[in-house]
Amino acid sequence: MKIAIDGPAGAGKSTVAKKVADQLGYLYVDTGAMYRALTWKALQANVDISSGEALLRLLNQCNLELKVESGTLKVMLNNQDITAEIRTRDVTNLVSEVASHQQVREAMVQLQKEMAAKGNVVMDGRDIGTHVIPDAEVKIYLTASIEERARRRYEELLTKGHKASLREIKQEIRDRDRKDKNRETAPLKKAADAVTVDTTGLSIDEVVNRILKIVYQNSKQGV
Ligand code: CDP
Ligand code: CDP
Repeated sequence: MKIAIDGPAGAGKSTVAKKVADQLGYLYVDTGAMYRALTWKALQANVDISSGEALLRLLNQCNLELKVESGTLKVMLNNQDITAEIRTRDVTNLVSEVASHQQVREAMVQLQKEMAAKGNVVMDGRDIGTHVIPDAEVKIYLTASIEERARRRYEELLTKGHKASLREIKQEIRDRDRKDKNRETAPLKKAADAVTVDTTGLSIDEVVNRILKIVYQNSKQGV
């Protein structure tokens, strides 16, 4: 079975998708981490992120690997562990521009389709149900109020010892959502056959259980 989870920033996609994959024994693919890894590399290599061509050239020189080790996702680029580096605010605030280029998206989607073809998978991102695995048996559109999404990100940053202001984080999330929803190529959009799960006020486990219920209902129907 293929499970696609899409939605805006801070909806809980990666946390929940990883847990769902763990419970089912499926492969987990965090597609946002792939765009983040390329953004980090572009910053390191001083590559102009307004050029899709330059970014594609850079991507073609990279060996990008996603591994789940003891329940945590590890992102490796040319054998370097960049798991923490890709979550910095610098990367976060530039990743939507990198991800807006058609050349970049085509190459990423190709890699993602290859991973999805390996078998049972839970994949999260922005265009999974609409473009990467349009034939996914289960499609979830995960969302939550902007206040809650900003608060979650803010608390996450504080836990990691970063300084942040809730107002700034909220604005950054708003800006990123706007860019992701309005780009020309494969914008963030609920797939027509996706089930919306509003996670406002729900704990991680409650969301995981809701999604597992949807998965079991689908498998009983023999989809
Ligand atoms: O976890 P968070 O919601 O902050 O973002 P992410 O899933 O790590 O994705 C980071 C960025 O990558 C998004 O804001 C999008 O610009 C881009 N992205 C995308 O365009 N398509 C995807 N399938 C996944 C991410
Ligand atoms: O991937 P996405 O940006 O959609 O969200 P995430 O990175 O999985 O979750 C953002 C933060 O919200 C994390 O710190 C999660 O632990 C937290 N979270 C939460 O508090 N309650 C939920 N129901 C889901 C996530």
